[in-house]
Amino acid sequence: MDSARGIPGVEKKVLGASLIFAGAMLALLAYAAIRLGISVPTCVTNVKPFQDGELIRVAPGRYEAHVVAKKWSFIPSPIKVEKGSVVDFYVTSKDIVHGFMIDGTEVNLMALPGVVNYAQARFDKPGKHQIICHEYCSTGHHDMAGFVEVTP
Ligand code: CUA
Repeated sequence: MDSARGIPGVEKKVLGASLIFAGAMLALLAYAAIRLGISVPTCVTNVKPFQDGELIRVAPGRYEAHVVAKKWSFIPSPIKVEKGSVVDFYVTSKDIVHGFMIDGTEVNLMALPGVVNYAQARFDKPGKHQIICHEYCSTGHHDMAGFVEVTP
């Protein structure tokens, strides 16, 4: 028996398997972040909450959307971009807590007064994506929507 001299054979196998598993998970995480471009929504601390919504074209196919949520709309809307565009969404609220979810994308944020939240999305197909408020925000909540319009 070699257990007297060190790690037993079975434990070595389990240790090896768990190292391989951890390595595989890290590789998948890197693949999701780098190749698939999936990122976690973040709260931005270096951007001051803004009062006016606007869509800024920073380069061909690159946009910054400064979105203001308020009872009961999103400004600007529609957010018009061309196919293949990458949009950085900065979202804040002018009054109370709202939701900001873009149909058909990974974007799902909270719109909070005094805070700016951030997410990025790429729009590869022409069409309309609805922006949905998914936080109950009183009487007009069910009507609160916006659009991202992707042109060909
Ligand atoms: Cu805004 Cu619900």
